[in-house]
Amino acid sequence: MSETNSALTSFTLNGKAETFSPIAGERLSEMLRERSGCRDIKIGCNAGDCGACSVLLDGDVVCACLTPAQQVEGRTVETLNGLHSYDVIAQDLAESFLNHGAAQCGICTPGMIVSAVALLRENKAPNEENVKDALGGVLCRCTGYRKIIDAVLDTTHPAPAEDSGYIGQSIRRLDGQRKVSGLDMFGDDVAPSGTDEIFVIRSPYPTATFTLGDLEQYINNNSSISTILTAKDIPGENTFGVIPDFQDQPVFAEAQTRFRGEAVAAIVAKPEFIRDFDPETFPIIWNEKNAVQSVEAAQASEAPLLHKERSNNQLCGGFVQCGDAERSLKDADFTVEGRFQSGFVEHGYIEPEAGFAEVINGRIEVHACTQAPVMDLEALEIILGMDQSQIRIVPTSVGGGFGSKLDISLQPILALATLKTGKPVRLTYSRTESMQSTTKRHPSDITLKIGANADGKIQGFDFLGLFDTGAYASWGPTVANRVPVHASGPYKISDYRAVSKGIHTNNPPSGAFRGFGVPQSAIAQESLFDVLAKKIGMDALEFRILNALENNQPTVCGQVFSQGVGIKKCLEALRPAWNEQHTLAKRFNTKNDVLKRGVGLASGWYGCGNTSLPNPSTIKCGIRKDGTVVLHQGAMDIGQGANTVITQVFATALGISTSKIELVGADTDITPDAGKTSASRQTFVSGNAARLSGEALRASILQHLNGGVNSKLKFGKGMIEAKDQETVHILDLSRLDADYEGYVLRAEETYDPPTLPLDENGQGSPYAQFGYAAQMVIVEVDTELGTVKPLKFIAAHDVGRAINPVLVEGQIHGGIAQGMGMALMEEYIPGRTENLHDYLIPTVGDIPPIDTIIIEEPDAHGPYGAKGLGEHVLVPTAPAILNAIYNATGARITKVPATPSRVRQAIKVIHDG
Ligand code: FES
Ligand code: FES
Repeated sequence: MSETNSALTSFTLNGKAETFSPIAGERLSEMLRERSGCRDIKIGCNAGDCGACSVLLDGDVVCACLTPAQQVEGRTVETLNGLHSYDVIAQDLAESFLNHGAAQCGICTPGMIVSAVALLRENKAPNEENVKDALGGVLCRCTGYRKIIDAVLDTTHPAPAEDSGYIGQSIRRLDGQRKVSGLDMFGDDVAPSGTDEIFVIRSPYPTATFTLGDLEQYINNNSSISTILTAKDIPGENTFGVIPDFQDQPVFAEAQTRFRGEAVAAIVAKPEFIRDFDPETFPIIWNEKNAVQSVEAAQASEAPLLHKERSNNQLCGGFVQCGDAERSLKDADFTVEGRFQSGFVEHGYIEPEAGFAEVINGRIEVHACTQAPVMDLEALEIILGMDQSQIRIVPTSVGGGFGSKLDISLQPILALATLKTGKPVRLTYSRTESMQSTTKRHPSDITLKIGANADGKIQGFDFLGLFDTGAYASWGPTVANRVPVHASGPYKISDYRAVSKGIHTNNPPSGAFRGFGVPQSAIAQESLFDVLAKKIGMDALEFRILNALENNQPTVCGQVFSQGVGIKKCLEALRPAWNEQHTLAKRFNTKNDVLKRGVGLASGWYGCGNTSLPNPSTIKCGIRKDGTVVLHQGAMDIGQGANTVITQVFATALGISTSKIELVGADTDITPDAGKTSASRQTFVSGNAARLSGEALRASILQHLNGGVNSKLKFGKGMIEAKDQETVHILDLSRLDADYEGYVLRAEETYDPPTLPLDENGQGSPYAQFGYAAQMVIVEVDTELGTVKPLKFIAAHDVGRAINPVLVEGQIHGGIAQGMGMALMEEYIPGRTENLHDYLIPTVGDIPPIDTIIIEEPDAHGPYGAKGLGEHVLVPTAPAILNAIYNATGARITKVPATPSRVRQAIKVIHDG
C-alpha cells in the first residue's frame, strides 16, 4: 500500500471538515484510527463480521473496515466519540447504557450505540424486533444482548438514585462513562500512530519441522525491517506456561511446531511494510509431519509423542473417589449410561490480543490486554532473563477475556522486540491468528454411568472424562483436577468415582474458558439425570430436588459446609415456571406437527478460586492530605464489573460513598497483586481483601480520633469527621505526614481463602465456597430442519449476596448466551473455522428473554456473604437446552454443538426406530 499523488480527500468528521491524502487500498477504519485519531472505532475482525467498527456514513451504518477510505470524499462520517459530544440521541443512549448495565467490557459499545443512533433517528419508538434488526450486525460476547436491547428501547430509564453505592445497590459501572463515550483505551488503542509493528510467522501445519533461511540477507533486502526475532533472540528461557512444573510452551518454536498457528519468528518493521507483507516471501522451508489431532489418535500405540517425557501423550489426570461406586451401581435398582462429546470452543472476545511496548529508562513496559498482569510479569522475567524490577506491566482495558487472556500471548513478542530494537513496538493479532494461536475450551469425550434406587436416591456414579488438551499444558492440569471435583453436580452422592485425563494432540492448546471443564462434565451428568429420572418415573426437577446437596452433607470430596449451600433454593425457585411451561408446551405440541416445544432444566455448581491452592489477593488504599480516598484495585475488570463491585465492598467497609473514591487500576508498579481474574474469584477473594483494607483504614482513622467502632465517618476537604453518638471528632489531615505515595493514612490487606489439599482419593477441602445455579429453558425445535430456537430462559442463581444486582444479571445473561453458543452453534475446527464468519457466535437475534432469580444464601467466607458468579452461569445452560430438545422431540443429543444436522439426524433415528 503506498500513498498516491491524487488530490486530498475532503470530508466531514463529527461535524468538522477534514482532509487526508488518499492511500490506495486503505480502509476507512484504518484512516480514521491512525490518521484522524478516532480510536473510538474498534477493530474486531477487519472482515465485516463483528460490527465493532461501525460508523455513520451520511447517516447510514457502515463497517468502516470494509469501506475504502477514499469513498468518504464529500461525505459525512460520524463516530461514537463525536456523536457523544453533540448528538442528544447518542447522549441519551450513553446514559441508558449506563443505567441498564448494557456495557460490560465495552469493546462492542461504540458499534452498538452508533447503530442505535441510526435507528432512533429514523424511528423514535422502535419495538424489540426493530432493535434486533438495527443491531444485528454488531456482535457482543459479554452481555447476552438483553440489556442492550433494553437500553435502546428504554432510553428514559431513570439513573439509579444517588446513594452511597454500598453493597446491594445497583450503581452504574464506575468505569462506564468512558466506555459509552468512546474514550476507553483497549490493547490496540494505546500505541502512537506510526509505531513499528510486528508480523508473526506461524506454522501453516498442525506439526512440521522447519528451516529458517538467511534472515540477515532478508533484512538487508528490506530497509523497512528493523529486526527479525526468533528463538535465538530470547535472552532468558524460551518457555512459558501458567502452572509451575508445566511450563512447556516456547515463545518461538525451535525446529518443530506442534500446532497450526504456532509462532516461529516475528518481523519488526514499519507499519506500511507490515500491512503489505506477504508471508510467502519469508525465507523458511516447512516439512509437514504426521499429526495426531484427536484423543484416540494421540493414544494409539504408534502415535508420536508431542513431549517425549509424557508417555501416551498424557499430560495430566485427576481423580476423586468416595464410597464404592462399582458396588453401588451393581446394587442400584436403575442404571443409565452414556457417552457425551464436545468440540473446541473459541472464546470469541471481540477484542483480539493487542498491545504496545517500549523501553523507559532501561525498563521494559508492556501495555496489553490481560487478565493476569502479575502472571505476565513473572512470565516475562523468565523469558527476558531480567529481574522483575526491570519490567512493568500496565494493562489496557480488556475487550473480553473469558479465560484465554490469562495466558500470555503477544506480551513476550512485544517485550523482545522493544528490547532488541530499543524502539516502541506495537502488535495486534488478526482475528485469524487470535483464533489459531490462543487457547480454547477443551474438547471432551465423557463416559458416565449413574444408578438410582426406586425411591429416587442416587446410587453410584462412575465418570471418565478424556480431554483434548492440545499441544501444550496451559490450564490442562487445572481442568483435570477441577472436573472430578465437580462432575457430581451439586448433589449428594455417597458412592462416586471420577477420573479425568488431559491428552496432548497437535491442536491449539486448550486452556481456561469460563468453567474450566465443568460445563462439559455437566452436559453428561445433567443429561443422564434426566434419563435416569425418566427411567425411575420421576419428574426431572423433583429428582434433582430430592438429591440436592444440603448444609452439613459431605460433597464427593468429603467437604462439609455447615452453611451456604443454596442449590435446593435455586431448584425450588424454578418449580412454578417448570410446571406451567410444561403445560404450555404440551398444549402447543398438540396443535403443531413440525414445530415442537420442550422444556429442559439443569443445575450447576462451581468452587470459587483455585483448587486446593493458595489464592491470595491484596488490596491497598490510602488517604491524601486533601482528603481524597484512593483505592488501588488490581483485580482486572474484563467486563464483569470488578472495578465497581470491589469498590462497593471497600466503600461499605470504610463507610464512604463510592462516588468519593479515586480508583487506581492494575499496574504492577503501583498496585499490589490481586491475583488473576479467573475461577470466579475476584468478588470473593479480592472482595474480601477490599473489605479487610476498608476495615483496616477505618480502624486507623478511628484510632487517630479516639472514635468508637460505630462512629459514622464524613470525609471532607482535608479532614475527616467521626460522629460517635452525640460526640463529633475531627481529624485534620494536613497535620499528618505524607508517605512516599502521598498518603497520610494507608492500609493494605491480603485475603487467601482457606482450602485443604486433596489426598490420593481426591478427599479434602478444595474450595472455601461454592456458588450454585439452576436454569430452565423453553425451546422450539423445527423437527424437519433440525433448528433449535430457545424461547425463554429462567435462571436461578445463588450468589450469596448480590453486591450489585444489575451486574449480577449481566453476568447471568452473558453466561447464558455463551452456554447457548456452546450448545447450539460453536465449534472451532483448526483450518476451517478461523474467523467470525465461519465460527458463529450468538447474535442479538438469537437471545430470547431471560428471567433471572437471584437467590441470596449467604456464605460465611464471602465478603458480606457474597459468592463468585462468573463461571457458574455457563455450566447449566447447555445441558438444559439438550434436555429441552429431548423433551420436545424425544431425541437425545450427545454431541455438542447440537447443529441442525445433528438434531435432524437424531430425530430421524427415532422415527426410523
Ligand atoms: S472490524 Fe469491521 S466488522 Fe469487524
Ligand atoms: S460488552 Fe459487548 S463485547 Fe464486551
